Amino acid sequence: MSDPLILGIESSCDETAVGIVRGLTLLSNEVASSVDEHARYGGVVPEIASRAHLEAMWPTLTRAVDKAGIDLSEVDAIAVTAGPGLMGALVVGLSAAKALAYVLNKPLYGVNHLIGHVGVDVLEHGPLPKPSMALLVSGGHTSILRVDDIATDVTEIGSTIDDAAGEAYDKVARLLGLGYPGGPLIDRMAAEGDPQAIAFPRGLSTRRDLIRHRFDFSFSGAKTAVARWVELCRRDGKEVPVADVAASFQEAVADVLTAKAVDACQTHEIDTILLGGGVAANSRLRSLLAERCEQAGIAVRQPRPGLCTDNGAMIAAVGAHLVAAGVSPSSLDISADSSLPVSRVSV
Ligand code: KG4
Ligand code: ZN
Repeated sequence: MSDPLILGIESSCDETAVGIVRGLTLLSNEVASSVDEHARYGGVVPEIASRAHLEAMWPTLTRAVDKAGIDLSEVDAIAVTAGPGLMGALVVGLSAAKALAYVLNKPLYGVNHLIGHVGVDVLEHGPLPKPSMALLVSGGHTSILRVDDIATDVTEIGSTIDDAAGEAYDKVARLLGLGYPGGPLIDRMAAEGDPQAIAFPRGLSTRRDLIRHRFDFSFSGAKTAVARWVELCRRDGKEVPVADVAASFQEAVADVLTAKAVDACQTHEIDTILLGGGVAANSRLRSLLAERCEQAGIAVRQPRPGLCTDNGAMIAAVGAHLVAAGVSPSSLDISADSSLPVSRVSV
């Protein structure tokens, strides 16, 4: 029997996305983004996102089915993001998925968006060793996860106590007048700057912090330090060295993320780390993690940047794991959960 054909729908933020996989093989991955509509507001406007999802859902679904070269009736299961995310945005994807599951008479799996970011790498690099560690860095979340089984057993061992990494990138980009979303813009600007120019703080990294917050993160200190630095420059009538600030901020974030991720692997005696979430596209984070893990004898798995940001294939990939593990499908009356905890893989 061939591997099951899974269709995944994602609509938790500003991307309407549909991906189709057969087992762990990616067949299609279509994304329609409303990011340009939010840019002039400096962040995602929930009402605009919901309306854009409504408009984009059917065309995106049709494109994904066409590109996969399948007929909808062949799909074995529908996976959909059930949370966390923006309520009005989640509801659009969930309604579409329920309608498809009902009409096609196929099982529905409500999936955790964050586990999608962790699960997507299997489409590129094959099955994940058990156990693995995951460094999850997105716009809304930053965590270190112990992944014993991606379908059933994920434990959060540390998380941010204030801003998420992506949120800090977006806020710093705004301070520097770079635009939205800030992560890719800072990444690009940092390439022109000196990462050692300014020593921005590494949150929760003192010996005392490590007792209570060994695997936790804090990015608000670095963000505030950038704000103060920029303000002092302007007050003194100096031009802000934007590239140096971007490179130094990026270095501070990558330094602390990678140091804690390596420490978590060593403490838990786990020799594989997986990078996931939108910030996993960051060039410095990728190179520093690879460098430090090589020194420590830890294998690194990082999906290509195009699979790091929100997409439907990552939800389909988790669906494939749920089906393979024999997890019961979700009820057709599940609700969206805007604050679904990361340890709940499916609902
Ligand atoms: O995972 P994601 O696509 O959406 C959420 O689930 O939140 O992550 C979006 C975040 C944004 O904050 C964006 O600025 C950041 O990922 N991001 C990056 C890069 N590309 C996207 N941050 C740093 N460097 C990048 N290259
Ligand atoms: Zn995401």
